[in-house]
Amino acid sequence: MVNLGDVFPDFEAETTQGHVQFHEWLGDSWGLLFSHPADFTPVCTTELGRFAQLQEKFEERNVKLIALSCDGVESHLKWIEDIRAHFKVDKFTFPIIADEKRELAIQFGMIDPDEKDATGMPLTCRAVFLLGPDKRLKLSLLYPATTGRNFDEILRVIDSVQLTAKYKVATPADWKHGTYCMVLPTVKDEDLAELFPAGVEQHTLPSGKGYLRTTPCPDQ
Ligand code: BEZ
Repeated sequence: MVNLGDVFPDFEAETTQGHVQFHEWLGDSWGLLFSHPADFTPVCTTELGRFAQLQEKFEERNVKLIALSCDGVESHLKWIEDIRAHFKVDKFTFPIIADEKRELAIQFGMIDPDEKDATGMPLTCRAVFLLGPDKRLKLSLLYPATTGRNFDEILRVIDSVQLTAKYKVATPADWKHGTYCMVLPTVKDEDLAELFPAGVEQHTLPSGKGYLRTTPCPDQ
């Protein structure tokens, strides 16, 4: 199990793009590792179709994509043909890891105990691990096998994690990129003008405490 802030373990794997040594493959980029229960399954097919359609959105954010599914490389390659045809995508630029023995899925806590395959083996859940350029885990999302992921949310949380890595802000409930942010509670009043040239609003509250401070999104 990998906790937030841990360096994500380096591992070797066979993929649809050849042998991968994970840390070397990541280089200086952000990385998104996401798992799937199995090839040729309907929900996974829609998800990989969405990842393929949104490849440029991840590239714009300097995020390298890598999928994991518990079948072999040959099966993955045939599945990619289905995905490209059904979703009408010319390019499928990211690799899919072959984790036939579920070794990586077990190591990284990606198992859904409630969903089993035809032989009674637990399936892989829909994990999403976002890694920073320092290879540390910045965010993890675990969905059960029966619930497909929301891609607006995946892009939204990447925007939040990347923004808050750069500026002394946190993003509020239902934040969308470009809307106001919260100033971190640790920022001193005397530093506000220098850190937030677009201004800070301190909201009046019954408690009299001045912790609710908003500022325009600092990267706009
Ligand atoms: C699917 O991808 O459709 C799926 C896989 C495993 C369990 C349930 C759904």
